[in-house]
Amino acid sequence: MDLPKAIRYRPYKEWGTKDYQAITKRVAQSPWRSHFHIEAKTGLLNDPNGFSYFDGCYHLFYQNWPYGAAHGLKQWVHTTSTDLVHFTETETRLLPDHAHDSHGAYSGSAYAIDDKLFLFYTGNVRDNNWIRTPLQVGAWMDKKGRIEKLPRVLIEQPDDVTEHFRDPQIFPYQGQFYAIIGAQDLNQNGKIKLYKAVDNHVDNWQFVANLDFDGSGTEYMIECPNLIFVDNKPVLIFSPQGLSKSELDYQNIYPNTYKIFEHFNPETGQLLGGGPLQNLDFGFEAYATQAFNSPDGRALAVSWIGLPDIDYPTDTYDYQGALSLIKELRIKDGQFYQSPVAALRNLRGQAEPFQNKDITANCYELELTIPSQEKVDLLLFADQHHNGLKLSVDTNQGQLSIDRSKAGIQYAQEYGTKRSCQISTDHVTLNIYVDNSILEIFINQGQKVLTSRIFPTEGQNGIRLLEGRVSGHYYEMRY
Ligand code: FRU
Repeated sequence: MDLPKAIRYRPYKEWGTKDYQAITKRVAQSPWRSHFHIEAKTGLLNDPNGFSYFDGCYHLFYQNWPYGAAHGLKQWVHTTSTDLVHFTETETRLLPDHAHDSHGAYSGSAYAIDDKLFLFYTGNVRDNNWIRTPLQVGAWMDKKGRIEKLPRVLIEQPDDVTEHFRDPQIFPYQGQFYAIIGAQDLNQNGKIKLYKAVDNHVDNWQFVANLDFDGSGTEYMIECPNLIFVDNKPVLIFSPQGLSKSELDYQNIYPNTYKIFEHFNPETGQLLGGGPLQNLDFGFEAYATQAFNSPDGRALAVSWIGLPDIDYPTDTYDYQGALSLIKELRIKDGQFYQSPVAALRNLRGQAEPFQNKDITANCYELELTIPSQEKVDLLLFADQHHNGLKLSVDTNQGQLSIDRSKAGIQYAQEYGTKRSCQISTDHVTLNIYVDNSILEIFINQGQKVLTSRIFPTEGQNGIRLLEGRVSGHYYEMRY
């Protein structure tokens, strides 16, 4: 939503309790709130931040402007979880209340060190002429959720990048802390900068190199880079803006991408043996995915279900955005998998054999198998007039597509109303999660994923098989 700068950057202390109550009331009127996904209590949610394990539980923050569905003065909002399925929002906020983050506590990461959680993030600072200086700054969160900001800027803007320099990801590699940061160079090409903690002190960083990930450089900016290790292979997940479509086929305003490598050299910043650049997600919206290597050995990821520069139907209710299910990343036989964490099964109600349903609560999982040499058309969010989200699977052609042109309130149509991806021509399994206005489809245990919003209108809550043979189960989700 387009709101004047004066509103979007109004200091939090100038908003009254009444303003907040009015916004809370509008959010409560939305017919589209989710049940088992994280949404902002109020305002806009964008990137996942600080996804980490500390003091016996998982921590996950999200970027938020609490006063409306717009990108304003951002804070981090804190949640915790023990099972990665149920999250509890705490009172802890990383507020934009310091000279080093005066115009937003922008995205970043977290890592437990000794008995505190280190938060490494971008302080967005603007001067009176609205000139931006991005500062990489840090804070410590203790076990009670109290945050203390480090007084010193940890990394200043280098000479060879523009004001677009942000989203530090801290990670340990062979006992040494590193950080990568998204950037735009002076030729307006996307870059990722690699730093090293001097003597392993996270308040002292030294530049190592620009990450060499064999990129073509057609993008003008790289946001939210993550280097993680999945089944012993380095995987780079990032959000390039302006990437040439000759390099990667995508339809969303910006894609979220990944590349798998064989080897990481932390001294030179080289990632070697890279596979092709690939779409992390084939749905209508998934961006700014954040991943980390959990101490239990799992590589975990979570995405923003939303995109920059897009208006959403929920904007009229003063909120926007959600976080995806938590996904476990694997590589098996060279194939990348993203599957929802196993604990999600605990939300399943009783299994019912798959069949048409006129009415559901739009809060369910479908686990389906589609045989080879089959063509299936399935309507989700179906109404009495055969409108709905059309999911087509063709195991002859090896194609899966979703068409939302007849499902709910339309938006972002300039980017198309259909998304598709290739699948194998064998039989296919699908795990489909519907959460009121969120749709996540995992193909073959997560070989491909499609994440999307659908904003159903009155009566769009059925499931109808239009064509083909499908077997499997329907589970109502209990949350
Ligand atoms: C990505 C992003 C980040 C930035 C944050 C600000 O969506 O633009 O690069 O840190 O959002 O909210």
